[in-house]
Amino acid sequence: MSSNLPIGIFDSGVGGLSVLRHIRESLPHENLIYVADRKHIPYGNKNDNTVKARAQIISHFLLKQQTKAIVVACNTATAAAVNLLRDQFPIPIIGMEPGVKPAILQSHNGNIGVLATEGTLDSSKFRVLLERHANGAELFIKPCHGWVEWIESGHLSGPASLPLIQQTLDPLLEKNIDTLVLGCTHYPFLKESIQQVAGADVNIIDTGLAVAAQLRRRLEEEALLNDSRSPAGERFWCTGPLDEMQQLLNRMWDTKAQVDVMPDQANLS
Ligand code: DGL
Repeated sequence: MSSNLPIGIFDSGVGGLSVLRHIRESLPHENLIYVADRKHIPYGNKNDNTVKARAQIISHFLLKQQTKAIVVACNTATAAAVNLLRDQFPIPIIGMEPGVKPAILQSHNGNIGVLATEGTLDSSKFRVLLERHANGAELFIKPCHGWVEWIESGHLSGPASLPLIQQTLDPLLEKNIDTLVLGCTHYPFLKESIQQVAGADVNIIDTGLAVAAQLRRRLEEEALLNDSRSPAGERFWCTGPLDEMQQLLNRMWDTKAQVDVMPDQANLS
């Protein structure tokens, strides 16, 4: 496989852009293809089979774009589908999980909050993560109802986001948490407001940087790092309304970003 092929990255919506920005910084010479599956948002309250089917359809599309690796920039889709994708697709598949391990290492008082979608928190992968690593720490788990939809409707950090965040965080703050895990790739877009509500002493953990580092390691192992020094770019695809995605990208990525509609399942074969 040629090392100058692109890397595919996908999420249910714009959340994965929080991972994409770390990938862009850490791998400036790679061409990146991003898919936002906004027609099926949110993944967090869908059943496993639906999320698996979406992950397969998008990965199939990305393979047709000749991607050399795929990053599942979504905790929910990773929990539901990463094993299946690794079985079915013959390229490196990089997934993600809530940063419980770094949180336990970094917490001083052992009281840790974990924010994620219901799909992630109810998954067997998350249960195993807790069983393996929680030893002694108190983990307070909180699904963030409405957060993904709020961000997809264009709300980022700012005064308007504070009530929603306050209402979700209050029960965790009562537990005297000193560390807070953002276990959904959408939530970093509210990070400044989350910090404001939680207070400056709460350490917020987001795994986007670690995922970019893991992608780099996997590409190195497979001799797939692009050694060309020619300029690299991003190509965006979406399901759902094109104009909405275009506006979100212009605000959240770059005013020059261009997006196309991903063909539906029927046109993929
Ligand atoms: N951004 C995703 C995650 O990391 C999914 C959010 C959703 O669609 O519910 O879990």
